[in-house]
Amino acid sequence: MSFDAAALRALIPALKSGSARFDAPGGTQTPLPVVDAIAAALTAPLANRGRATEAERNADRIVVEARAALGDLLATAPETVVFGRSATQLAYDLSRMLAKTWQPGDEVVVTRLDHDSNIRPWVQAAEAVGATVRWADFDPESGELRPEHIEAVLSPRTRLVAVTAASNLIGTRPDLPAVAALAHGVGALLHVDAVHYAAHGAVDLAALGADTLVCSPYKFLGPHLGVLTGRADLLESLRPDKLLPSSDAVPERFELGTLPYELLAGARAAVDLLAELDPLARGSRRERIVASFAALEIHERTLRSRLEDGLAALPGATVYSRAADRTPTLLFTVDGREPADVSRRLTEHGVHAPAGSFYAVAASQRLGLGDGGGVRVGLAPYTDVEDVDRLLSALAEVAA
Ligand SMILES: Cc1ncc(COP(=O)(O)O)c(C=O)c1O
Repeated sequence: MSFDAAALRALIPALKSGSARFDAPGGTQTPLPVVDAIAAALTAPLANRGRATEAERNADRIVVEARAALGDLLATAPETVVFGRSATQLAYDLSRMLAKTWQPGDEVVVTRLDHDSNIRPWVQAAEAVGATVRWADFDPESGELRPEHIEAVLSPRTRLVAVTAASNLIGTRPDLPAVAALAHGVGALLHVDAVHYAAHGAVDLAALGADTLVCSPYKFLGPHLGVLTGRADLLESLRPDKLLPSSDAVPERFELGTLPYELLAGARAAVDLLAELDPLARGSRRERIVASFAALEIHERTLRSRLEDGLAALPGATVYSRAADRTPTLLFTVDGREPADVSRRLTEHGVHAPAGSFYAVAASQRLGLGDGGGVRVGLAPYTDVEDVDRLLSALAEVAA
């Protein structure tokens, strides 16, 4: 097993500005092979999907290859990979589709840990049909959302549980297989927001126990679009609103209008890059993805420990990321300092660590941070030890 952050850094033009970037949970910087794949898609002949001309075949090939790549990334069949504008748009579309099958009195579970993108679509879809929303809490002390938190709000009327695979605010990774067993035990579906998780771990739809799942390639070196996948039989059973002449096949049924072929080409390139993060990995692309995430996890754990040790020694700092199982995404505050002020001062030192609640407003409030949140430091595959040391020495000056 091996991991070479320097080799990846060399591929990312945006890092040449010299800043130390900790803003990856908001979106990663883009490597050249992804840019090149986007440019190649747009500079070759390109038309709507078809078989008749080279331009049509190029579009068709891009879609087929992108579905195969995302299928490998998520351990799901390519035919179940749906592309959309963003995870938020796909969650809204899915919530409206599923709500067609809900009755007044049915229940939907959302959690206080989640990004609002995995809360509001479900709340609004439930409201539209008279279903009841039940909120699962998490423990603000440990930052953990445990299966008992979900169990406490389940009932025989629960139709759906929407939960994150990893919090974009504090990194917590709930025990999803246990949550899935509980949800399925009462006959509910499990929808998983894997937008933050997918940047740090190999997603496996079936192993997580998810019925449906979303992620966003721009969080893992790819371009800005969203991906939905789910159990094939479930997707077959759903009937989205769609145009009459457009395909009724799965997954095209769920994709409104023309796909952004160039972004699909970029997403495929990003998956190929992820599969190469461990240059010693061998086997199928899926096998190399799993090996690469294992190598990445070791790299990120080392940096996370260094970061946590530094933050623990920083006078007045409180770190809110405390769950036993979590991504290397740390939220902290400094006594007597506004998070936005700390973030602004870090920027003056060439260190980018944004402040806020990052759309996880309910989680921020539950942590006692109101809507304002804290300073968020997120590691990416291209983060290196120099970045971490620059952050810590800048923080020491800012906090002094
Ligand atoms: C955990 C999580 N879920 C959902 C989203 C929304 O993703 P998108 O921008 O693709 O709608 C984000 C974006 O930051 C996120 O971090």
